[in-house]
Amino acid sequence: MTETTVLSKTTAVYGEPPPALVAPAAGAAQVSPLSPGAAALEDFADETLESLVMLAPPGTVERRYALAQALRVLKVGGRLSALAPKDKGGSRLGKELETFGCTVGETAKRHHRICVVTRPEAPSGLDQAIREGAPRELGGLWTQPGVFSWDRVDPGTALLLETLPPLAGVGADFGCGIGLLALKVLEAPAVRQLSLIDLDRRAIDAARRNVSDPRADVRWADMRQAGLADLDFVVMNPPFHDGGAEDKALGQGFIRAARAALRKGGVLWLVANRHLPYETVLTEAFAKVTPRADRGGFKVIEARA
Ligand SMILES: C[S@@+](CC[C@H](N)C(=O)[O-])C[C@H]1O[C@@H](n2cnc3c(N)ncnc32)[C@H](O)[C@@H]1O
Repeated sequence: MTETTVLSKTTAVYGEPPPALVAPAAGAAQVSPLSPGAAALEDFADETLESLVMLAPPGTVERRYALAQALRVLKVGGRLSALAPKDKGGSRLGKELETFGCTVGETAKRHHRICVVTRPEAPSGLDQAIREGAPRELGGLWTQPGVFSWDRVDPGTALLLETLPPLAGVGADFGCGIGLLALKVLEAPAVRQLSLIDLDRRAIDAARRNVSDPRADVRWADMRQAGLADLDFVVMNPPFHDGGAEDKALGQGFIRAARAALRKGGVLWLVANRHLPYETVLTEAFAKVTPRADRGGFKVIEARA
């Protein structure tokens, strides 16, 4: 579907709301920044959509930004159904929508709060919320609320930055975020090409601005479908959520995907929370696994395929 076709749609969905809680209209345009290839809410003109269903994101600034964008693009009288798990912003959703001048109908179901509003004629505070959640330059790098560790260097990333030796050849940065690891990798003149891959469009937009090196190829994609092969190296700080089982599965998926993308003898440099049990999957997939640093609850591992 062309961009023009998507932007002419009149219904949209942000994220993947549980179907048991709320059903987006058939054919709704996906507008989540975490869905590679989706349209961006930012690209819709003011007052064009009839309805929007949003699984609201967890960060306060990011959520207010997304809600304000949703109200901006809805027609007067258009319907916004926003929901979130109670402990991930759901309990604040109703109040947040009221501050935009909406009259909120709120229900609770399966640990979620579901808020339904019709877009008022003159919502208040949208510009401010959009300004507060917009991309910006911080410490010389582009970033945006909602992106991983958007306003500070993550301590795990910092440990990998310190530990990483100069690399060589063709490689990838899986889950590149705004491009901090990539900038370090590209300091090595022997690096011929680096693919930066992330699921988050906001991170990719920032990485494109931060990493202007011609050897960098920045892609908005799921690294599990990136189709990379025969790489000399992969660097990564794999994603983790705050639930134990999910933490493991995500990181282990990243490790297996890294092995699949590497040539024999290629190297993976990885940082992870010390408590995450990656050693088994690493030793199963790689010929040699060497711990290289351990500090402040994080570990850096070098694994050779
Ligand atoms: C822990 S952060 C690390 C970001 C960056 N490398 C850093 O060190 O600051 C993990 C990153 O992986 C991305 N991510 C999560 N799942 C992904 C997937 N399936 N494919 C590509 N990127 C993914 C997230 O959006 C996030 O930016």
